[in-house]
Parts: sequence; structure tokens; C-alpha cells
Amino acid sequence: MMISIPLIQAIRAQYRLPWTGVHGAIHWARVMETGWRLAKLTGARPHVVELFAVFHDARRLNEHSDHDHGRRGAELAVQLRGSSFELSDGDFALLHEACSLHTDGLTDGDTTVQTCWDADRLDLGRVGITPEPRYLCTAAAKNQEMIRWADARACDDFVPVFARETWVSI
Ligand SMILES: [Fe+2]
Ligand SMILES: [Fe+2]
Repeated sequence: MMISIPLIQAIRAQYRLPWTGVHGAIHWARVMETGWRLAKLTGARPHVVELFAVFHDARRLNEHSDHDHGRRGAELAVQLRGSSFELSDGDFALLHEACSLHTDGLTDGDTTVQTCWDADRLDLGRVGITPEPRYLCTAAAKNQEMIRWADARACDDFVPVFARETWVSI
């Protein structure tokens, strides 16, 4: 995992919403675990997926409608690159695109970008929305077993084990 505690602390320091709310750290932790699982099947760049998990909603200003939060999350990644994390130019371009456009409902794109969007959309059960294959991008995410696994965790607001003593309690 390339998400360091100082990076999480830097993100938290500027996060405006409840830390363990529907768009906060527990959601990010599930997006990351789902992203890992998908990446093994899709070939997505795992470091990009990890960073997407923690940046994509990091600049949300409310829990319901905030269309530009994706672009602001990408800007935060620009600001923290080089001090809180490192990433090659090619991977950073993918991270920036995945964060910026994740609010646009797109399904076409680079495999890594698609995997990021799917990891996020598979967690919609936390707000009462069951993920539908037509809104997902990759075959790995559209798989019924994958949807059932992710949706059960989302509906339970499951806290990934790695996050219990790190992200949630910092
Ligand atoms: Fe979002
Ligand atoms: Fe999200």
C-alpha cells in the first residue's frame, strides 16, 4: 500500500465533512479494497487505484450534490504530489483523469480509470443504490458475484480491517 499515514493526515486536515460519513474514510477504504480486487482482474495500475480511493471525494463540500468535487479532488492530488506521495507522470495523468471525471457518469476510458470508477460505484449500496451493470465499466465489475460481494459490504458499512486502527482512528 502506498497510502502513508501522513498522506491521510494531510487529506483529513482539509476534509470538510464527517470523517466517517458516507463520503469519508470508511467509503475510501472500501473503494480501495474493491479496487485491489478489481485490479487483479482488469490489469489496472494498483497505485493509481489506491490514490483515487483517497482523493476522489476528498474535497466534497456536502453529502448530496456537489458536481465539481471530482475536479477539486484532482487539484488536491496536484498539491500533495511530491510532499505526501510520489507518482510517475503517466500514472498521475490517469489519477487526475479518474478523479476529475468520476462525477460525470462515464463508462469509457483507460482500463485503470475505468477500474477506479467501478470501485467507487460498487460502493453505492451505502446510500441505498444497488449497482447496475449498465453503469459499470469493466467486465470484472459487472460480474454478479463481484456486485454481490461489494454491495453487501457497502450496505453493512463494513470497515476494512486495515482501516480500523489506521485511517478511522487517526
Ligand atoms: Fe464522488
Ligand atoms: Fe466516492
